[in-house]
Amino acid sequence: MPSSLQDLASFAPQVVAWQRTHGRHHLPWQNTQDPYRVWLSEIMLQQTQVATVLAYYTRFLERFPTVASLAKAEQEDVMPYWAGLGYYARARNLHRCAQTVMLQWDGQFPTQAEQLASLPGIGRSTAAAIAAFCFGARTPIMDGNVKRVFTRYFGVYGETQKRAVEQALWTIAEDIVAQAPGTLDMAAYTQGLMDLGSQCCTRTKPDCQRCPLQSNCYARLHQVQNELPTKKQRKQQDERYCHMLIVRSGDEILLEQRPDQGIWGGLLSLPEVSDENELMSLARHYDPHAEPIRLASFQHVFSHFKLHISPWLCQVKLPMLAEPQTKHSLWMPTNKLDQAALPAPVRKVLDGLFPPSETALF
Ligand code: ADE
Ligand code: SF4
Repeated sequence: MPSSLQDLASFAPQVVAWQRTHGRHHLPWQNTQDPYRVWLSEIMLQQTQVATVLAYYTRFLERFPTVASLAKAEQEDVMPYWAGLGYYARARNLHRCAQTVMLQWDGQFPTQAEQLASLPGIGRSTAAAIAAFCFGARTPIMDGNVKRVFTRYFGVYGETQKRAVEQALWTIAEDIVAQAPGTLDMAAYTQGLMDLGSQCCTRTKPDCQRCPLQSNCYARLHQVQNELPTKKQRKQQDERYCHMLIVRSGDEILLEQRPDQGIWGGLLSLPEVSDENELMSLARHYDPHAEPIRLASFQHVFSHFKLHISPWLCQVKLPMLAEPQTKHSLWMPTNKLDQAALPAPVRKVLDGLFPPSETALF
């Protein structure tokens, strides 16, 4: 058992004191106890960095200022405000969650972590964060930042994805809040853990000199900051290849609605095929004389694989020669592309070909 477990009671107060003087205080989802705003930020921040979330967050709230306005909207109206953030199941759950709050909770988010965790898209840690920030609940979080700080501070070895390790970390987290003094400011403690993870206890080169926990930290005392948290056995990264066809007819291009399941679920995208033969037959469906031009290939990294994308530009001579091949396809004017819910890499290709206007949505 790491020796630092002995001073469990002083852990949280140290984090709180540091947060008050050195933590972040001006993020747009701070200084509010409105669960709608806090919930939205926590969902966006689940798999996306603060710097990226900032612009999306403000724009989303301008369009959907309350949980009622979000619940009332159609799913298709929500997706453009999420497009580019990735992990699109989050956006669909967000919408479902808003509707559940309206229907089952009378428009008010519940106040207890356990109740919050029963809502779509809200896991144990996110529920704890919302309950701590909005209602001062003594429920601890356990996100990537906290796992890094705890494994280092307490000297916990083993992959944090493994159940037993994760369970051990949750137990430490519970013990800390249980043993802290009764006056513990849960909002400051919760934010402090996140801030420590992003400002001192960073993934590489942690800045232990500035860390309030340095005097008792296992990793610093043993100089094993680089060994903790234990790295996951690297699997050979899966590589996938695809071709995307940009069918252009006059001022319009062809887009396809992606199925809800799978990558980019529910977004609009370019027609996609797996090899060049398929690409040619698809192009010739729209114009028998089409000669698609190959554009520069690029890669997009997902959590489980790397996708190599080869875009092809195909000018169709006669406007609207062919109906879209499937009922999920549509012709979209290029000056409307800025309002379409497109995945980030598809937007990148299309922005290069059809630069967005000054009045772009985003
Ligand atoms: N990541 C998750 N929640 C956060 C928050 N409230 N502030 C900064 N980063 C976060
Ligand atoms: Fe992380 Fe260093 Fe602080 Fe330990 S002393 S918690 S390794 S920043």
